[in-house]
Formats: sequence, structure tokens, C-alpha cells
Amino acid sequence: MAGIYVHVPFCSQACHYCDFHFSTSLKNVQDVIDCIKKELILQKDYLKGNTVNTIYFGGGTPSLIEPEFIFDIINVIKHNFNLEKEIECTIEVNPEDVSLNKLYNWHKCGVNIISIGIQSFIEEDLRFMNRSHTKKQSIDALDLITQSNIKNVNADLIYGYPQLNLKNWKKNLKKLIEFKIQHISCYCLTVEKKTALFNFILNKKCKPLDPEQGVQHFLLAREILIESGYHHYEISNFAFDNQQSLHNKNYWNKTHYLGVGPSAHSYNGLSRQWNVKNNAIYCNKIKRNESFYEIENLTHKNIINEYILTSLRTFKGLDLNFLSGSISDIEYVQFLNEVRQLEKSGFFIRKDNVLHLNEKGILFADSISSQLFLI
Ligand SMILES: C[S@@+](CC[C@H](N)C(=O)[O-])C[C@H]1O[C@@H](n2cnc3c(N)ncnc32)[C@H](O)[C@@H]1O
Ligand code: SF4
Repeated sequence: MAGIYVHVPFCSQACHYCDFHFSTSLKNVQDVIDCIKKELILQKDYLKGNTVNTIYFGGGTPSLIEPEFIFDIINVIKHNFNLEKEIECTIEVNPEDVSLNKLYNWHKCGVNIISIGIQSFIEEDLRFMNRSHTKKQSIDALDLITQSNIKNVNADLIYGYPQLNLKNWKKNLKKLIEFKIQHISCYCLTVEKKTALFNFILNKKCKPLDPEQGVQHFLLAREILIESGYHHYEISNFAFDNQQSLHNKNYWNKTHYLGVGPSAHSYNGLSRQWNVKNNAIYCNKIKRNESFYEIENLTHKNIINEYILTSLRTFKGLDLNFLSGSISDIEYVQFLNEVRQLEKSGFFIRKDNVLHLNEKGILFADSISSQLFLI
């Protein structure tokens, strides 16, 4: 199986915390979409005939562009790749773009999952983030989506910012739970360089983030969502039974994927590549048949370290039998020494020779993984 990711690099305004690639000028939409279609044809052999079972429109804001563009891109994919009969097709949407007409057209294109960026139901917090929607637009959008023909819905919330107290975080979670959607992602705000938020903190216009506060928010989300019937299947992701995102699972299971559009990443088991992060340069290079991506060949160590990171982040866990068969005896002995140290600190549960992070371990998943990395 394999996946296709389509990066739609346009947004109506820049959220203060976001460093994903997008442009707020919409004048080149047609040109970029034409180049994405051309890239799909140029890269039609990248997945080596593997059957595609997920298509994911991410961004940027794919809901901002006309659904006809989504339809055209899906058609090019259908004509150039082997598609599984039943595919998962997701579109990321912003609340202010959701309308009956767009929902009808996305469904007609074959979209069967909507992933909506809610972030918060608190008006002041939306302004702090510079989101382009109000609380009312979020509620109206969730009402429309949950009554539409697209039956699978994810919503994103953000936590960990200074003015979010536990009472308001609980309110946000409880409000979202009312919609009984299948999947919820909760992201801890990260401060990325070159964002407005980074400068606000630097210039003392905003308090720095407190990691301890992030931990409290994370534990509260886990408690409330599990209590409401969601399974916590990856650090940031919660889903009802059997509603885990195949796109996410493919990504963590190292399934090969082709990413198209400016800044999109691709992975084929041997290398990773990433497209140029500028709409005009991307289009010029595609039109002139010039190289539009950089490539990194993966070493054996890279591959093993990625396995350590992703297996511990997901609740599938790290399979010690698999690992011992994949690395040298010396590396495995060193690895087990580190594991024993971490076990003493009480971060793991070991079951059937598979290591799982426990509630305490989940909070330190990234630093635990880097302690276990092969060097
Ligand atoms: C890049 S956005 C694309 C989809 C859509 N435009 C939106 O805003 O929901 C995907 C998700 O990443 C989250 N995100 C982006 N930057 C983040 C950051 N610095 N910290 C935490 N979440 C972030 C967004 O809030 C959103 O939920
Ligand atoms: S969070 Fe979404 S809407 Fe905001 S700038 Fe990033 S991609 Fe655009």
C-alpha cells in the first residue's frame, strides 16, 4: 500500500504560530494546481506501482480553493496510479470555508474524511492565534459537516499557550465532544522560529510557553477524551473504535508516500525528498522540467532511529524481536542497557517483548526516543 499527499499552499491569513508553507496571495492558484497535476504525471512511477489507499489534501488550506481543483487533481491521480477500490480521501478544511455547496462537491469528488482546524472555541484565543474564523463559524461548520454525506470527521485543537487555563481547556474539549465526531487531534503549541509568535515572545509581548502547563493540558485531554469513549492511539491522536486515520497509520508504519506541491515531502523506503518551499520557484522549475526537490538517502541507522521514534509515539509499541533482528549484536546490547536505565525511571510497560510508553513515558516520548537512538 502507498499514499499520496497533496500540499495546497494557500491560506486566507497567516496564523501567528504556523510555519507550514503557504501564500496568502491567491492570484497563482490555477498555475500552482496545473503544476501539481504535471508533477503527479512526472512522478507517476515514484510509488513503483504500489496500490494507493490514501489521498490526503493538506496545507495550507485546501478548503480555500474551488472544489473543481480538487476534482481535477483526483482525476489525474486516478489516471496515473493504481488505486485501491476503497480509498481514504481526506481534506483539511478551515471553518469559514465550509458550506453546503462545498461539502456536496467534496463528497462528489470522492472525499470521505474532513479534518477541520478548530483550535479553540474561545474568541480571545482565536484572535491570539490570528485564526481567520470565529467560534460561531466553527460551530456552524461542525453542524453542517456532521449532517453531510461525509461521515468521517476529525477536528484539531491546540493547547499549551499561556492564557489557556485548565477550565477553558476543559470547556474546549467538552464542546468538541458534543459533536460526537470520530477523531480528535490535540496539538501542543510549538513555537517555531520565523513565526509572529516567536517574535512576540522575544519582544516580551507574549509570555513564553510553560512546558509544565502543556503536560497538565495533555493529561486533562487524555482523561476527558478516554472517558468519552475515544482511544488514545498516538500522542496527539484520539479516535473511536476502528476510526483511526489510515493516512496517519501509513505514515507511522513507514508506508511509502508521494507528496506533491510546493514543500511536500516524499518517502520510498530508501530516501526522503522534499519539494522547493516557494510557489513561484516550484512552478518555474516544473514548467522548465528542472529538478524541484532535494533528496536525502537514508542510512540503516536513520531507518532504525525513525522506527524507534514512531513505534514509541504510537501505542503499537517497539518490537524488541524485530529490533534485535535488524541491528548488530553490539548495537542491541547498548540499546538494551539504555532501555534498562529508562525502565528503572518507570517510563515503560514491557509486554510480549514489546515496549510501550506508559502515561509518564508518553510525556517524554521525544527525549526518550533520542536517548535510545543508535549513534
Ligand atoms: C498546518 S494546519 C493545515 C490545516 C488548516 N489550515 C488548519 O489550520 O487547520 C494543520 C494543523 O497543524 C496545526 N499547527 C500548525 N502549526 C502548529 C504549531 N506551531 N503548534 C501546534 N500546532 C500547529 C494547525 O493548527 C492545524 O491544526
Ligand atoms: S494553521 Fe492552517 S490556516 Fe493557519 S497559517 Fe497554518 S496552514 Fe494556514
